[in-house]
Amino acid sequence: MKLSVIGCGYLGAVHAAAMASIGHDVVGVDVDPAKVAALSAGKAPFFEPGLQELLSEGISSGRLRFSTDMADVAGAKVHFVGVGTPQQKGGYAADLTYVDAAVKALTPYLQSGDIVAGKSTVPVGTAGRLAPSVEAVGATLVWNPEFLREGWAVQDTIDPDRLVVGVPTGEPGERAAATLREVYHTATAKGTPFIVTDFATAELVKVSANAFLATKISFINAMAEIAEVTGADVTQLADAIGHDARIGRRFLGAGIGFGGGCLPKDIRAFAARAEELGKGEAVGFLREVDAINLRRRDRAVELVVSALEGDLFGRRVTVLGAAFKPHSDDIRDSPALDVAVRLHGLGAKVLVSDPEAIENARRAHPQLEYEVDRDEALKGAEVVVVVTEWDEYRKDLDPAQARDLVSKPIVVDGRNCLDPAAWRGAGWTYYGMGRP
Ligand code: UGA
Repeated sequence: MKLSVIGCGYLGAVHAAAMASIGHDVVGVDVDPAKVAALSAGKAPFFEPGLQELLSEGISSGRLRFSTDMADVAGAKVHFVGVGTPQQKGGYAADLTYVDAAVKALTPYLQSGDIVAGKSTVPVGTAGRLAPSVEAVGATLVWNPEFLREGWAVQDTIDPDRLVVGVPTGEPGERAAATLREVYHTATAKGTPFIVTDFATAELVKVSANAFLATKISFINAMAEIAEVTGADVTQLADAIGHDARIGRRFLGAGIGFGGGCLPKDIRAFAARAEELGKGEAVGFLREVDAINLRRRDRAVELVVSALEGDLFGRRVTVLGAAFKPHSDDIRDSPALDVAVRLHGLGAKVLVSDPEAIENARRAHPQLEYEVDRDEALKGAEVVVVVTEWDEYRKDLDPAQARDLVSKPIVVDGRNCLDPAAWRGAGWTYYGMGRP
């Protein structure tokens, strides 16, 4: 099938490449000429495992191309809209400028019978607001939220847990749902749940899934706060409650909390939208979820300050991690970088290492020092702070060897990803998050 994808960021570029890989003929459109040039040359403009290979395959097969010209969508039957919906400047609501602009720019090129499939995460009510302008040219709008995780984006796109499509009532909606089923033929053929619903439900499925995940993380981080004043160990607690299948162990990783381009802004936008709908109290707990999350960054900073007995001025602190999570170079709202910046603000000489995110981090925070080589970065450290659980730190870093590199063997494990016994055994003073 001929498809177009409007917006070639983390979501759109992966979607375009993944759709080409399952046999579709895809054009990706983006307003950024540098991004389009990179993608057209088969180069991923950001780090996402597996994307590079998919892009090169797609480009050389002739089934995948990129353009800055919206007119190139002509002939496509389904047009996916995957542009960003960042947090508004000075507010909590989502900024819909890019979604509105993309739909407006696309409409003149739509043919009667085309389908516009929104993938961006939007406040409930957005699809209903945009549908009339799409229907006016004989096309049909559907909302098809995306649940991919960065770092696993290729796999999540090709083989998702479920597919959700919000459609209008009647024949156009039924036809659009059938077409989307065809688009995702590899997943639907293997029985992936395909949920056809109305616009509002589809929009809410997405934001409520992210709200639930954020709440789960903040729940365990709240338990970490209690563990810190009682001497309990939140990691054991999470293991123990996680054995209950109703609770489950995933997303009970206590530490410096969630960040990235999705969870933080999505829970804020959800709270803002609920306020607009006169139901702010229904999701009032999300403010608490946000507050708990941000307090964990304070806690990591406090641990470093107390490890250095209150005096950070001119002290060498090595921060391992800059990305908001491993397998990504994304630093948007990264708790790791926030901790590094705060330590720098307190006078420490902060050296940040990360296997993939240094370029992005340096651009955003040129005041910090950077060293890509982990062992170089450890040399002379008075405290080591682990803030992104890359395998390079979690699995491959030998505490005995690391001890020989640093000036003082003190480690703050901001992700509870190290083995405290092994590190203490190698002579380190170990501080975890919500662990004795
Ligand atoms: C999240 C959702 O998981 C996806 O399903 C969704 O599609 C995506 O947002 C989106 O809306 O686009 P992502 O932002 O890639 O995906 O990252 P997650 O894997 O959800 O991690 C988010 C943050 O939570 C990271 O900073 C991670 O370190 C943190 N986290 C995760 C914890 O602190 N503890 C955990 O136990 C798990």
